[in-house]
Amino acid sequence: MGKDVDARAMVRGYSDGDVDTNHMGNRTLESLAAERYSRRQTIFGSLQASAAAFLGTGLLAACDEDFFTSDKPQASAGADIETSAGRMVTLTGVVDAPRSATGAWRQTGGPSVALSGSGSSVSFLAPGVAAATPLTFVYDVTDADGNTDADETTVTINPATLDFEAVPKNRLDLVTVPAGYEVQVMTRIGDPIAAGVPEYQNNGTDSNFAQRIGDHGDALHYLGLSAAGTRDDNASTRGLMVQNHENLNVQYLHPNGPTLVNEQQPRDEALKEIEAHGVSVTEYRDTGDLSWTYIQDSAFNRRITPNTPMVLHGPVRGSAYVRTAYSTDGTQGRGTINNCANGATIWGTMLTCEENWAGYFRRDNSGAGTDNALRTERELTSLRRYGVNSTSGNYLWSTVQADETTIFRRWDARATAGSATEDFRNEPNQFGWVVELDPYDPGATPRKRTALGRMGHEGAWPGRFTAGQKVAIYMGDDSRREYMYKFVSDADWSAGDAQSADRLAVGDKYLDSGTLYVARFNADGTGTWLPLVFGQVPNRPAVGTTPEYAFADQADILINARLAGDALGATPMDRPEWTATNPANGEIYLTLTNNNASGRPLNDTNAANPRHYTDPKLRAGFTDQDPNAQYDQSYGNPNGHIIRLRENGDDNAATSFTWDIFLFGANAPMDPENIDLSQLTDENDFSSPDGLWFSRPQNPAGVGRPLLWIQTDDGAYTDITHNQMLAALPGQVGDGETMTITNTAQDGSTAQQTTIVGAPATPATVRRFLTGPIEAEITGVDTTPDGRTLFVGIQHPGEDGEPDAPTSHWPQSQAGTATGRPRSAIVAITKASGGIVGI
Ligand code: FEO
Ligand code: CA
Ligand code: CA
Repeated sequence: MGKDVDARAMVRGYSDGDVDTNHMGNRTLESLAAERYSRRQTIFGSLQASAAAFLGTGLLAACDEDFFTSDKPQASAGADIETSAGRMVTLTGVVDAPRSATGAWRQTGGPSVALSGSGSSVSFLAPGVAAATPLTFVYDVTDADGNTDADETTVTINPATLDFEAVPKNRLDLVTVPAGYEVQVMTRIGDPIAAGVPEYQNNGTDSNFAQRIGDHGDALHYLGLSAAGTRDDNASTRGLMVQNHENLNVQYLHPNGPTLVNEQQPRDEALKEIEAHGVSVTEYRDTGDLSWTYIQDSAFNRRITPNTPMVLHGPVRGSAYVRTAYSTDGTQGRGTINNCANGATIWGTMLTCEENWAGYFRRDNSGAGTDNALRTERELTSLRRYGVNSTSGNYLWSTVQADETTIFRRWDARATAGSATEDFRNEPNQFGWVVELDPYDPGATPRKRTALGRMGHEGAWPGRFTAGQKVAIYMGDDSRREYMYKFVSDADWSAGDAQSADRLAVGDKYLDSGTLYVARFNADGTGTWLPLVFGQVPNRPAVGTTPEYAFADQADILINARLAGDALGATPMDRPEWTATNPANGEIYLTLTNNNASGRPLNDTNAANPRHYTDPKLRAGFTDQDPNAQYDQSYGNPNGHIIRLRENGDDNAATSFTWDIFLFGANAPMDPENIDLSQLTDENDFSSPDGLWFSRPQNPAGVGRPLLWIQTDDGAYTDITHNQMLAALPGQVGDGETMTITNTAQDGSTAQQTTIVGAPATPATVRRFLTGPIEAEITGVDTTPDGRTLFVGIQHPGEDGEPDAPTSHWPQSQAGTATGRPRSAIVAITKASGGIVGI
């Protein structure tokens, strides 16, 4: 069972790597002795005249030889020291007294800290600070006669620093972390999460993914549990791991990869593939000393799959757009798919986001199987804008014939001669949402929050929760030239809702009624939130052969948020991925993972997506040391960037903001005037940022100068290094300068673009913390509330391999065994010293 967090901190403490102490080592014994002597001289001198009056004869009689036995105690609090946020500080007092004496510490100045321990030695965790901050402490001593003394020391806390050596770029089949850090492999695809489910064989014969960890683990989040098994937001030794399962390495899921029989997929294969998607909830426990395990038979464990019943909430609920043969009144739905990034609410629920759902449906936009003749022009405009055009659906699930409950048929979105409630033509409108889950209640039906709009949702991260302000959710729509969105609640945040027992009802309050906005980034560093409100959105103009689109109602606008964004003139971005909120200043960060030459041509850059350049990539078979190395050239913005914004007035409901570009991806060294605008080095160069998360404000890593984690999903720099995770200590919007760069296209033509660049990166502010195994993406990040365990998702190692020839053997390789099929998995990373990870 879980242990009390504070007690545990006291018992296990930290070892040397993280300890700062004012122990005697700061002063020589000689200096202390000298001080003692000099103070005694002073006391003695003052006593000589008056002591007889109140001390009586005993002292005087013993004066010559026994004076010191009646001396007052002398306290020493040690020398002043400096340390940085997140370090454990030990205060050790020294008492010099001829008689028995006791000492105790108390804080007398600076931000209050909790002292653990008692007597002469106490410890505290240096709090997060934005600037050097002195804390003062006094060591009080009292001897057996009641004589007292006190001495003060000052501990100056500096802002957090990155406390690790940069991991070198590498292409090992390992998760590599800095020296002093340890990796534990946690839940992997296929691990059983219910009693009686057999161990995963990992040879393609396993079944029942409704009770196993799914494939392609993506965003993850840890929710604390008390020893009694109730919600405890501060519990760091027991919790629920909630992880998205985005997609499949389908070749490893079956004995010899997927098969077709008479052009139909076998039912058991399709069911396995479907159930390997969705979300998992698994109980994790620290069994002591940061040794983590998961609990196979926990009553909290749950799989949410594409077959799990859901309800639609918000303005789209019940509308004609979402009525299907399964939900004839448009209020229900089944499951969630391609769950990518996430959001964590302050009321204890998770938001999971449906990203590349469009490709799962069979429809056929123009071929022999098309249903165009049975569709309205409006429907066709919507389907094309969202890319619902596959001739088969990603995994051919709708080809399964034995299908009493239409769990396979539903993936065929073609209209039939019957009505919309007799087929699944509207099934694609059931996806592309943010879904709210209550991980603490395994029986709770997830709710699709349609007020947040329908798109290729990457993530949905809340801004800061401030009493009396609206709740804001920031979202990226991950496709080339798609937009950034913000949802603002109608209701003001009420802090009492954070611990409500009916968590999904709190979600109803804040996520079902509000305004969806789309972002326009202006060239001058300002930005505007444009409301997607029926009556305020003009018709979407005709594009090529696609006719003008007039919105019919608010449900139409939310379902076709991309069309509404087009109509409002939102800024097309370089693939908006995760958002993250700086807990200290409320600034919002957004990864823009990359774009290619057609998505970001030379003549269509803008200040917020300013680069068009070439990135050379080594051809297979060459090394970068080879003088005859051959390269392929990628044009556009192959390495991506991270933009950030600050709401005007720091108000979640603001309709305008300021922005700059925090960090540009690049392969160092590259042209710092036009490409490597953040001036990256060997310690921090990267490409294609995707996952993005600020450390929790429950520990010093998320306070003062919060730590930002950046994860990559790259194909451009993988000739040099596997995907990676960096730690950063960002400044704020406006800490850099305006630059005008010269972009160069493949044909040599150039164009100038002005942009706003944040302060250059240095190894002190951005540093590589981790690299992943072969062909893996790094995605999914959280820590325990105390910051001492970092959880990271390793997605699709060996994704280019074959069933009988895997290209990676991770995570077996992490334990030194280079055999077997690769598995997506979560790793738990801890500091050998037990300190806060990263700082
Ligand atoms: Fe699933 Fe946009 O990454
Ligand atoms: Ca992603
Ligand atoms: Ca991605």
